[in-house]
Amino acid sequence: MSASLPSFVDAPEQPAAPAVVQTHNLTKTYRTGFWLNQRVTSLRQCSLTVQPGETFGLLGPNGAGKTTLLKILLGIVRPTSGRATVLGQPIGDRTLKHRIGYLPENAYFYDYLTGTELLKYTAGIFGLSHQEQRQRIAALLDMVGLDAKAIHKKPLKKYSKGMLQRVGLAQALINDPEVVFLDEPMSGLDPTGRFRVREVIVALKERGKTIFFNSHVLSDVETICDRVALLDQGDLLCTGTLDELLGTSASYRVAGRGGNLEVLQKWLSGLQFEHGLWHGMLNGEPYDFLSSLRGMGGKVVRLQLARPTLEEFFLEQINQRH
Ligand SMILES: Nc1ncnc2c1ncn2[C@@H]1O[C@H](COP(=O)(O)OP(=O)(O)OP(=O)(O)O)[C@@H](O)[C@H]1O
Ligand SMILES: [Mg+2]
Repeated sequence: MSASLPSFVDAPEQPAAPAVVQTHNLTKTYRTGFWLNQRVTSLRQCSLTVQPGETFGLLGPNGAGKTTLLKILLGIVRPTSGRATVLGQPIGDRTLKHRIGYLPENAYFYDYLTGTELLKYTAGIFGLSHQEQRQRIAALLDMVGLDAKAIHKKPLKKYSKGMLQRVGLAQALINDPEVVFLDEPMSGLDPTGRFRVREVIVALKERGKTIFFNSHVLSDVETICDRVALLDQGDLLCTGTLDELLGTSASYRVAGRGGNLEVLQKWLSGLQFEHGLWHGMLNGEPYDFLSSLRGMGGKVVRLQLARPTLEEFFLEQINQRH
């Protein structure tokens, strides 16, 4: 029989779920050149944490070290120093392979396999029964938006870039992983393809998965990530939620027409007139301003949060260093 605690005794706190990814001072130096006597440091003293259920976006210009970090976390590349855990296990731990999914940056597939054969092959590696394979593959094709009939006959070498990326995503998810690492999942995709990948990521998040992805497409990152980190030349410049990095300023850029000049001047700073519209900055929530404008017969044609976009923030951070 379990005795309940007296009311004056604090209930023991639930142990917090371990971080999905935790790195501590990870550094990777490659030896290069014919005699291996030159060194390139791709990652320097990188410490970051990703919590369960988070969608985490790792950003950075070409050569920043994003793929290197991902490869270290997947146990493909050994760090020169520092340590890391994934799902509470040291990186490289064999038991992790069943719990993580990975879409590489430039996935190379067997040209002469069909999409279905590739997925069955991967499912077999994870030991799924034939019935599980059938069910899981059908669900994944539906999720990534591929037609089962179309990929059943065609060899992979005849797939478009978008189709290959979707097959790659389905392959990365075949073992129903707890955490998914995606290296540039939107690269080379047209707007519809990017939209589809975004949808898949959001669907995974809704199912409680943790997603760690590298991307250059900042607008996509801005739409779907809970937190982002910015890497440049191996250095981690910052990590945080978009609000933490971009600010939560409640200022708006407003443009409109009509209304009363005196009242507009009362509400808006930096008021200007151009192409038949007025433009200005509104500080604070817009509701009162909008109703007062409506009362004067004026109309707003644009209302935009005045904080910088992720792209502006990214460029500012990178330009400061170069
Ligand atoms: N196997 C390797 N041997 C030597 N240098 C390497 C190796 N892999 C990566 N590098 C170097 O490490 C640095 C970081 O590379 P990495 O691929 O991690 O960057 P990235 O941020 O993923 O770039 P991209 O956006 O172009 O994919 C680069 O200077 C790269 O040339
Ligand atoms: Mg890369």
